[in-house]
Amino acid sequence: MTGRRSPDDRLVAAAEAARSHAYAPYSKFRVGAAVLTDNGVIFTGANIENASYPVSHCAERVAIHKAVSEGHRRLRAVAVVADGDQPAMPCGACRQVMAEFGVRRVIVATPRGRRRVRTLRALLPEPFTPERLLGKTPT
Ligand code: THU
Repeated sequence: MTGRRSPDDRLVAAAEAARSHAYAPYSKFRVGAAVLTDNGVIFTGANIENASYPVSHCAERVAIHKAVSEGHRRLRAVAVVADGDQPAMPCGACRQVMAEFGVRRVIVATPRGRRRVRTLRALLPEPFTPERLLGKTPT
């Protein structure tokens, strides 16, 4: 590859690498995700399924919760790489978790390099946010 890689390129590459760790024996749908914190750290995740299907975790939430559990509260962007010919948009639950931690930019890509970029605002208009819980400020 020639030239410099953009921040989006790096985040997508991290998501793509994380996809190789997907544990998806039931759906066979492998997803990798990477999240960029507001201070420039990248965390990755992959989907993790369970024989008890509802216990499964989406890649996005694995990556986001890894970042949060390491003390990061403000997140900038999330990249997702999933199987298929078209980029897969994040599920509703993951969009809500992205809103909780201030994600603004969502990059979805296929393993073959097709890419779409969306604002979280476009994916989740009028979100329910922590500020709406009166008397509670996120820590
Ligand atoms: N999945 C994700 O990892 N992210 C999404 O946004 C949608 C779905 C996973 C969950 C499950 O392991 C598989 O894809 C099929 O739903």
